[in-house]
Amino acid sequence: MAFDYRKYVAFKPVGKTDRRWPDKVIETAPTWCAVDLRDGNQALVKPMTVAQKQRLFDLLVKLGFKEIEIGFPAASQPDFDFCRKLIEENRIPEDVKIQVLTQARPELIERTYEALQGAKRAIVHVYNSTSTVQREQVFGLDRAGIRDIAVKGARLVRDIAARHPETEWTFQYSPESFTGTELDFAAEVVDAVTEVWRPDQGQPVIINLPATVEMATPNVFADQIEWICDNIQRREHLSISVHTHNDRGCAVAAAELAVMAGADRVEGTLMGNGERTGNMDLVTMAMNLYSQGIDPTLDLSGMAEITEVVEACTEISTHPRHPYAGELVFTAFSGSHQDAIRKCLARREPGELWNVAYLPIDPFDVGRRYEEVVRINSQSGKGGVAYVLERDYNISLPRWLQIEFSKMVQREAETNGGEIDSLTIHRLFEDRYLKVHDDWALRAYDLHRDSEGVQADVTVGSGSTPLSLKGRGLGAVEAVSDALEREFGVSIAVEAYDEFALGEGTNANALACIRLMAGGRHCSAAALAEDTTSATLQALFSAVAQVVGAEMPAPRTTTDTVGA
Ligand code: KIV
Ligand code: ZN
Repeated sequence: MAFDYRKYVAFKPVGKTDRRWPDKVIETAPTWCAVDLRDGNQALVKPMTVAQKQRLFDLLVKLGFKEIEIGFPAASQPDFDFCRKLIEENRIPEDVKIQVLTQARPELIERTYEALQGAKRAIVHVYNSTSTVQREQVFGLDRAGIRDIAVKGARLVRDIAARHPETEWTFQYSPESFTGTELDFAAEVVDAVTEVWRPDQGQPVIINLPATVEMATPNVFADQIEWICDNIQRREHLSISVHTHNDRGCAVAAAELAVMAGADRVEGTLMGNGERTGNMDLVTMAMNLYSQGIDPTLDLSGMAEITEVVEACTEISTHPRHPYAGELVFTAFSGSHQDAIRKCLARREPGELWNVAYLPIDPFDVGRRYEEVVRINSQSGKGGVAYVLERDYNISLPRWLQIEFSKMVQREAETNGGEIDSLTIHRLFEDRYLKVHDDWALRAYDLHRDSEGVQADVTVGSGSTPLSLKGRGLGAVEAVSDALEREFGVSIAVEAYDEFALGEGTNANALACIRLMAGGRHCSAAALAEDTTSATLQALFSAVAQVVGAEMPAPRTTTDTVGA
């Protein structure tokens, strides 16, 4: 059997009894290091050109990254050239440190320093693999042999740096495949390296603990980080960094829990590009902090530019559901979500704390428009349809009409199978509710109120033979209904009626919506007009027209007298 879980064994947990990290709360952003130009680049089908690297580097600087791993210059000529270009063309801002990766091999370390000649400040990142599987199956070395590689590398890094005091050096060591390394051995190697570098004597040192392969749940990684922080020497003089990969889909969670467990620094890439399932996604982690009211120290407000540059440089498109950045992540199609969002946004006062159902952050903060929040398809309900008409056409519908019209929109969406845009929704509304047939167009009205109610005198029809109607009632609608009943012999009962004054941006000043039982049938219509009375009467006529016929039938000869 090919699909056989018995091929695998569960990761052995740390067995920590003194864990403190679950009670910690992240209150400040960690130091970020973007590794897009190295780890991200190493994972691309087509590695970046120098021009693409430059574009991405400039974006990273603009976003506020102060530590940027720019490549593996000893392993790749474009990476070497890019490093030289940044230094020689003076393209590194004063407050930004470039970081370069090298294996702990003498010839590579030497070449790395060549690439860094003349840099004002730089982080030399040296690594070797420490995990059991790498020791036993790749290198065929025991613990001492692996520790020796790290120590020799650390010595050479220290010694060459000492020959170039013109550069401000930071040293970084990664026990690569840390998650697969016995913790006591990881601590032993780290201690051996810091014994060479002596951070306690002033040398800035970063110890980077990579989940080169994510092997367990994020809580296990947090335990590993807390254990290391508790058990290594010179902890207070070190910056503890984590570098998580996303093999189990938890790279962001692992980095977050690692920060709770004591990590000071986090490495990752924008949008999570990287080996296999990717590196930790810096955008997601930084925005997670932002959404908790914590300054992420990165400016991610130009999300469209971020995705555009990342896509252009990596040739990987952004998933529409990518947290905070995807095209659809601030969009609700579902009716109940739309309804809740619409209500929350309508109640919201400027300057209030963000508290909107279904939207963890204000889309506006990352350059998105509220227009995108509600989009309509067959899953949408009355709230969404009403929201779109209100937002784009300033048309507010009463609840009964929202329910009625949204069913029509839903039918249309089911028929065409996709999304219905705002223009189509408006056209459907116009065609179904606002259309005025010539014969039923209100021409003039005169409403006279006396002690017994209202006397209505209205004229409809656009041709040369308009129809004059007269009726009485307690109010205008009742009086005109009376006139119509007399004229066409249909009984009219008003079931729902609403009028709205319209805001700026429309030609009309009023909208009236009416639902009737006329001649035993339900009918409904709406009308826009300059004043509420005209809108109301027009809506009434348009509704009755649906029962009587769009073309005005010949008037009934009646002898009834109007009035008392
Ligand atoms: O994933 C990893 O372990 C790395 C190291 C080189 C830091 O990228
Ligand atoms: Zn990596």
